[in-house]
Amino acid sequence: MRITVIGTGYLGAVHAAGMAALGHDVLGVDSDPSKIAALQQGHAPFFEPGLPELLHETVASGRLRFTTSIAQAAAFGEVHFVCVGTPQKADSDSADMRFVDAVVAELARGLTPGSLIVGKSTVPVGTARRLRELAQELAPTGVDVRVAWNPEFLREGFAVEDTLSPDRLVFGVDDADSEGILRAVYSSILDGGTPSFTTDLETAELVKVAANSFLAMKISFINAMAEVCETVGADVTTLADAIGQDARIGRRFLNAGVGFGGGCLGKDIRAFRARGEELGVGKALEFLGTVDAVNQRRRNRVLELAAELLGGDVRGRRITILGAAFKPNSDDVRDSPALFVARALHDRGALVTVHDPAAVENARRIAPHLSYAQSTVQASIGAELLVHLTEWDEYRELDPSILNDLVSARLVIDGRNQLDVDAWNAAGWSVHALGRAPAPAWNTPSSLDMAALSAEKEAVA
Ligand code: UDX
Repeated sequence: MRITVIGTGYLGAVHAAGMAALGHDVLGVDSDPSKIAALQQGHAPFFEPGLPELLHETVASGRLRFTTSIAQAAAFGEVHFVCVGTPQKADSDSADMRFVDAVVAELARGLTPGSLIVGKSTVPVGTARRLRELAQELAPTGVDVRVAWNPEFLREGFAVEDTLSPDRLVFGVDDADSEGILRAVYSSILDGGTPSFTTDLETAELVKVAANSFLAMKISFINAMAEVCETVGADVTTLADAIGQDARIGRRFLNAGVGFGGGCLGKDIRAFRARGEELGVGKALEFLGTVDAVNQRRRNRVLELAAELLGGDVRGRRITILGAAFKPNSDDVRDSPALFVARALHDRGALVTVHDPAAVENARRIAPHLSYAQSTVQASIGAELLVHLTEWDEYRELDPSILNDLVSARLVIDGRNQLDVDAWNAAGWSVHALGRAPAPAWNTPSSLDMAALSAEKEAVA
């Protein structure tokens, strides 16, 4: 099928390459000529595992091409996927629909009969219907505009896998023809047994924001438990392991730490709540405000903890931040908790050095005033405190003993609960993990040595 993918960001670039990999003839569109030039050469414009290979293969095959012209896309495509961003508005919590509206308006002017506009961006419920009216007004006479909604659930870092083997497909449609077209687009994935849900436009739009709200709620739930654990000296990691054994709860997305960031969860829950207010169901979504507040408090907790550990003030103190991306296997720094903490510590007068395996270039663009290091070793020289904030494997696997003689103090905050506390302790480090107040040794599962336990209890007594 002749497919266009408009917007080649984290979502669209992978979707375009994925569609070409499924055998379609794809034209990717973006307003940024430098991005288009890179993609045209088969180069990924951002870090995403597996994407360079997929782009290289599909561009070389001739099935994937790129342009900056929406008019060209309109003339070419039978199916147009809209993948442009819906960021938060500068002056409110609502989604900024300017980019989606502009793309659909331009597309509509050149739309050919029988083609289908398919929204993939995360949007306020009611958008698809509104866009259809907008496009119908602008489309050439005789063109009956059809709009479908096919939300995207891909995770950065697993985007290729999630695009080629999604765990579900959702088709929001208003007519049987649109469903048929979408089924044809995804036929090879559907033939592989991927579950699909055909529904109305509103449900499809809501599935996406509901999914992201639930994920955000799950993370904030465990982070709220972390706050309680910190107060009573309990261990949130064991708590998550134990409640996660209940299949109704599940262990995934219960990792307590500095909280969620990125271009989706935060702005999506805010936009959903704002949309709820507009629709008169604000009460139903009020809890999302709490989810957001818990998440923000975790970032502040890291700042407080850093100050506490450094004697009350971070001014003039050398702090190394491990991580800049909002999550591992990504170079995305949008709303990154790691970068938030790094910048806030700098603003409070700390001498901050940041390391990240992939995101330094992007971090430097928005925080050029921070120092950046090429390696964890270089980043740690002279550090009085390490703060681990992005759960890259590289940090989890780090042998703390190699840093022992480089740092000024063996002090680390684990803002992701991923470091092997025993190994760090054994190397002489003091580890402060969020939600795991340093407990007496006889409380730690690793030291359930009865002899040591009674000796220690006696010593304390
Ligand atoms: C999210 C959704 O998962 C995806 O389905 C949707 O399409 C887009 O938004 P993504 O933004 O790539 O994907 O990141 P995700 O893997 O959801 O992680 C979001 C944030 O939550 C990261 O900062 C991550 O570090 C954090 N997180 C995740 C936790 O703090 N604890 C967890 O247990 C899981």
